[in-house]
Amino acid sequence: MKLRYFSHSAFQIITDSGQRILIDPFFDGNPTSPVKSSDMDADFILLTHGHGDHLGDALDIAKRCNCLCICENELANYISSKGVAVHNMHIGGAHEFDFGKIKLTQALHSSVTPDNECHGSATGILIHVEDKIIYHMGDTGLFSDLKLIGEMNRVDLLLAPIGDNFTMGIEDAVKACEFVNPDIVIPIHYNTFPVIQADPLNFKQKVENQGISCQVLDFGQQITL
Ligand code: NI
Ligand code: MN
Repeated sequence: MKLRYFSHSAFQIITDSGQRILIDPFFDGNPTSPVKSSDMDADFILLTHGHGDHLGDALDIAKRCNCLCICENELANYISSKGVAVHNMHIGGAHEFDFGKIKLTQALHSSVTPDNECHGSATGILIHVEDKIIYHMGDTGLFSDLKLIGEMNRVDLLLAPIGDNFTMGIEDAVKACEFVNPDIVIPIHYNTFPVIQADPLNFKQKVENQGISCQVLDFGQQITL
């Protein structure tokens, strides 16, 4: 599969069979995104929570591409009310889709829909696709149950926020990596805005000192897994 990073928490997965999956597609309001939402097509959209920097352009893309949005229950109900196909889930639950299995995890964070009416839960997402497990942590602070998630899932790739202020900063993200123990970690949710400036190379050095490989992706870079 191919994995492309667009900055912030936004990724695209293209499976070997050609299914296109977007995660937290924050493009048009994102000063660091190398693409616009109108350039992006998808078959599935995965959302960690309803904050604008994660829900992003999901509604526009989903309406144009007729794709399925997969996310936590309250956010899914909001998206459904806008005429988009959804699959409602909640923390701790897993479900098999055409491309693989999704399980939502806890995230220490909040969520709200753009109309400020539905206050659901923020989540992380365990994505089982092909023979890999990708763990997108969403927005979260550090929590010790990450150890349990690491024990129960052989995580190939961890996508971990490091920007501080709204999420873990570098020091806590290094501890989160020790808990989850992935093969490789990619830092996310940094340098989008002044308040979340962080040096990903500083994170890389610190986490690699703990024996965990880190790949810092350029905004727009695509890798093959
Ligand atoms: Ni958030
Ligand atoms: Mn965020």
